[in-house]
This record gives sequence, structure tokens and C-alpha cells, in this order.
Amino acid sequence: MNPTFLQWFDRDEQKSNVWRMALLLVLIGRVAGAQDAAPAAAPTPANPPTPLVTIQADQATARVSPILYGLMTEEINYSYDGGLYGELVNNRSFRPETNNMRHWQLVQPEGAANSMSVVSDQPLNDAQTNSLKLEVAAATESQPVGIANDGFWGIPVRPHTEYHASFYAKAAGGFTGPVTVSLVRDGANAAVFAAAQVSSITADWKKYALTLTTGEAGPSKDNHLLVSVAKPGTIYFTFVSLFPPTFNNRPNGNRPDLMQLLADMKPSFLRFPGGNYLEGRTFANRFNWKNTIHDISRRPGHLNDGWGYWSTDGMGLLEFLEWCEDLHMQPVLAIYAGYSMASGGIEPGPDLDPYVQDGLDEIEYVTGGPDSTWGGQRIADGHPASFALNYVEIGNEDNLGTGPRTYDGRFTQFFKAIKAKYPRLQVIATSPRVTNSVPDLIDEHLYPNTELDMESRAHNFDSRPRTGQKVFVGEWATRVGRPTPTMAAALGDAAWMTGMERNSDLVIISSYAPLLVNVSDLNRGGSMQWPSDLIGYDALGSYGSPSYYAQKIFSNNHGDQILPTTTQDFPTRPYQAAGRRGGGNPPPPRQVPTLFVDATRDSQTKAIYLKVVNSLGAPQEVHFQISGLSGIEPSAKSTVLSAENLDDTNTIDAPKKVVPVATTVTGVGKSFTRAFPPYSITVLQLQGT
Ligand code: AHR
Repeated sequence: MNPTFLQWFDRDEQKSNVWRMALLLVLIGRVAGAQDAAPAAAPTPANPPTPLVTIQADQATARVSPILYGLMTEEINYSYDGGLYGELVNNRSFRPETNNMRHWQLVQPEGAANSMSVVSDQPLNDAQTNSLKLEVAAATESQPVGIANDGFWGIPVRPHTEYHASFYAKAAGGFTGPVTVSLVRDGANAAVFAAAQVSSITADWKKYALTLTTGEAGPSKDNHLLVSVAKPGTIYFTFVSLFPPTFNNRPNGNRPDLMQLLADMKPSFLRFPGGNYLEGRTFANRFNWKNTIHDISRRPGHLNDGWGYWSTDGMGLLEFLEWCEDLHMQPVLAIYAGYSMASGGIEPGPDLDPYVQDGLDEIEYVTGGPDSTWGGQRIADGHPASFALNYVEIGNEDNLGTGPRTYDGRFTQFFKAIKAKYPRLQVIATSPRVTNSVPDLIDEHLYPNTELDMESRAHNFDSRPRTGQKVFVGEWATRVGRPTPTMAAALGDAAWMTGMERNSDLVIISSYAPLLVNVSDLNRGGSMQWPSDLIGYDALGSYGSPSYYAQKIFSNNHGDQILPTTTQDFPTRPYQAAGRRGGGNPPPPRQVPTLFVDATRDSQTKAIYLKVVNSLGAPQEVHFQISGLSGIEPSAKSTVLSAENLDDTNTIDAPKKVVPVATTVTGVGKSFTRAFPPYSITVLQLQGT
């Protein structure tokens, strides 16, 4: 609908003609230069009307879901091992899979004839069957022999820091100790940052623990861990571990900088453990939760064959739950649904029963008390309190591959068993094609490759009927940027988030994916399996992408009520969606707005949160008319994430290039016009009176 001539002039009062002309030129340029040109549009008017947003502050349509913003996580891109999980030793239990022994080197004087080998005839226990046999023919204080581990693309050393080292060892061939553990700089000038010694080693397996304390030097990451001896003999090692300080000082805990970045997002839930990582490519390599509990030395680990590297399972079921506890998130527990990507699905019926029981046991581990088998196991594992669980998800992306053939039956078998024992649990399906039961929510995934594609979907939920199931957007991302998203992606993401927030009576829960990427080696087979991830890091540092900051400002700034908004005269640009894979005509070009808005209100404080996304490289003005309240304070808090170029981004070397800027602005009220900078995401926090 076009505004009347009168409205146009009313709203024109506060306009900047310079900016309006700039916008006009950009729009004309875009239409003229667009590759996906739409059918010839009507000539652009000389004075386009200012886009108008009306908001009814007393007519909340629904409540903003309190769990709209959360986290999705799985072992991908070295997210846990070499990422969030604090362990610094790479391949602590001497697994040869995926060429993993390359992380261990024999360190000895040049030309010496000592040896190291992986053996399986000295198992520590059923889970740790491999050990490293170090055979030392000659070693002295001045010429020690040892094994060195290079960590996950380096070992971070920080000044005045305590590191907790531990290993299991047994001695043979007359060796009785000592064993020295040191943090050493790589290269010829091998400075020792910290060292500690175990004086004697027994002939039976025993765990040894030491504290290494660094001095002034650092921080640096081109370092290694050295475990060495100065006397001849034979020593078997396994489970050689090194932990830096962890978040909340948890033993076997997480990296503080990454935990803080996540905490700053104020996430309300954690969806775990996948993703493809839950299913595994093959059945043997699924996330078998019962192998991820007990003391870490009793976890065998498994090949993460979905993403091609070994998983220690040091981040096991209890650690996921403690991660939730640390960040005040509720768990969204994904249960293995009897389907692995390459091996297909187990037929519903008796063959599936053991996996349904496994899922029930898993829920009991999370929620059960001391009188239950698996609740008792959790208590024995060190966590007396049970965890509150409201959501379980059955499988992952069972609408793909051969999953759909059996999912309806598999889901329904799980659903009935779970509802029978835990009637209050909300059960999420990963495919809409379930007809034999009615899932509480459907998980939908969305990974567009351009920001315009994502923006074209920002209104998808506006007209979705409210009669069906609620939606969990369990994975979404605008995939522009490598290894982490650019400002272009952040704009697509923010446009999409306005749509989710505006419709959060329907979309009650959502999580971006993937969350984490180790950016140390972006080559094939390196630290990254999936380009465009929210948070990047190497051994020492970490950073949030523009998409991270977009999400952070959305999650940190919203009310509890959705306010109805109408928009008018929003400029558009043409978008041509790609045709379907395997042929078929592409859909006709569409016009996509260049502005995206939503409004929410805090029923307690009367604050109104206006979110505005300007996807153009020119400023755009918007006029707001807010009704249904007596007044609005003349100043407001403004938080703006913007960039000069679409491909501006943050990196490990420039982590703060694109970050939100918070200011106090004036000139707001029940009726006001405001210009939004080029390529920007803005939250205006207005105070209603
Ligand atoms: O997020 C990366 C992968 O994308 C997930 O593992 C999978 O669920 C999806 O296909």
C-alpha cells in the first residue's frame, strides 16, 4: 500500500535529502547492474517515500519464546578436541587412526638408537588398550631421551600459569624413574617454560600427576610437551594429558576464552551431540553415550567418521551437561535414532528395541535420582544433582539419505516409549514426514549460500499456519565466509533472526551451526571440515565473527512480547533463486526487501526493542510510528553492528574489526525518523512511559 501524499509530506519533515539521494543512486545502480535482473520494473520515482514501520505497543500478539536463542554443537572442525575441551595433548592414548601418531615424536640425541612404538599387549584397562613403549638404550641428564607431543597446532603457554599434567606409566627393564615433564618451545632454541618430575615409576600401571608452573615468558603457541628420562630402561605410557586452567576450574573442563564468548551470547539451551556426529557415518562410530561416561581413562574414544578424525570422548555426556550447567543453559538432548549415514537405518520393531532402551537409559542418566540405575551411575561419575530436561530430539536430519524410509516408524517407536515413561518431555522430530505419531516440534535446517538467499526467507514464517507443530530451527547459517562468516553473512543472519523473533510463537527454539572452528589449518584434512562457523580460534586466541556479534545483540536484546508491526514502502531488490539440483526450471525472480525489522517489548520494564537490518551499502531512513503507550523517552540505547564492505570480517589476527558499537541516541519518540547506516544491524532500545 502506498502512503497518501499527506503522510508522505508529514514523514518527510525530518529526512536527510542527501541520504535519500544516495540511496536512490544505489538502488538505481543495483537494478541496472543486477545479474539476476528482474523483469523491467516501473521507473523509480524521483522522491521515493520513506519506509514506514508502525508498531502497536499495547497489542502484543504472542510471547517471545524464552528459549529462542541457544547453541548447537558437535565434534566438527576440532570443536572439542583441539577446541573447547581443555586437553592440550593430541592423541593422549596413542591411537594410530587417521595418522594420529604423527603428533608424537621420539626425542633423542642425533644418531642414538632408542625407540618408541605403539603396543597393545600392555592394556591399562578394557578401554585403553594401546600404550607407547619407550625403549631407552642410553640416556643421561645432559642427553635425555623422551617423547614429544605437538598438541593441536601448537601448545599454548601463558605466563604465570599452572598446567596440570598426568600420565599412566609402568616401568620395565630395570627402569625406576625419574620421569620429567616439561613445556618446551619448538625449534633449535628450545627454552623450557616449566618442568616437573616424578621421582619413581613402579612396575605396575599407575597414574602420576604433576603441576607445571610457567614464569614470565609467553604467551606463545609454538611449543610442545616433552616427557623424558635420563636413564636407560623401558617405560610404557598411556593417557598422557595436559590441562591449562579451565572455565570455573572444572577438572577435565573447558577453555575459558571460548566459554566466555559463548556465555556472552546468553544462550538458553545447548543442542548436543550433533549433527552428523550423533549418527556417525557408520553404526560403529555413532555417538555411543555409554562409552562417553565414567572416568576419562575408561572411555575408549571413537573415530569421528562423519568428520574424519579421532574423538577422545573426553567431552562426554556428563561434560555436555556440565557445560549446560556452567552457562545456565538447558540441555536439548539428541538421541541416536537407529540410523547412521552410510549404514542406513535399523528397521523399526524388535531390532530397534535395544536402541530405544538405550535412549531411555540416557534420559535416566540425565534426570534420574540415586535409586535409578543410570541416575546412580551419574552420581558415581561425580554429579549428584540431576539435570532438568525438557526436550529430546530423535536423530538428526533423518529426512536425508535413506533415513526417510524408516524414520516414521523409528521416531514413533521412540516417541511412544519416551512419552510412556516421561510424559512431560517434548519430543522433537528431525523430519516433517512423521504420520504415525505427532511430534511436539519439527527440527528444520537451513544453510543458504548467499545473504540474499537468506534474506529472501526472512518472511517465511509470517504466513505459516499456526495449526501444525512448533518449529525448532536446529541448524541455520548464511554460509558466506571462510572459515568464519563475513558481514554479508551477518546481514543475512540478522534478517533471518528478525523473522524468527517476529514468529517466535511458532519458532520457539533455534540454534546456528556450526558453532566452532579451529582455524589453524584450513587445508583439506586440516582443522576445518565445514567453512563458515560462528567462532574461530587457534591454540592461543579466539574471536567472534560478525555473525557471532549479530546473534549476540539479538539474543541479548529482546523483550518477552512480540509487537505487531506493519511495514510500508520498503525498497526491494530482485533475487533469482537457483533451480533445483538435477534440473527443473528455476522459480521466477522475486523482490526481496532491503530492510528487515521486528519489535518486541519487555512487559516488566516497558522497554521496546526495535531491530533494523539495512542490507544495502547506503544509509536508509525509516520512519516509525508507535501507538498504544503514553510516551517514549527521547533518548534510547542504540547498538549497531556495521561494516564498510560486505566481505569485511574478523580473523584470528584482527579479531575486533567488526564489532557492535553501543551509544545513546536522541530524537526518538512515538513518531520519529532514523537513518540506518550502510550494511548495518541495529537494536534500538526505547523506553516506554
Ligand atoms: O552443521 C554441519 C552439519 O550440517 C551437521 O552435522 C548436519 O546436521 C548438517 O547437515
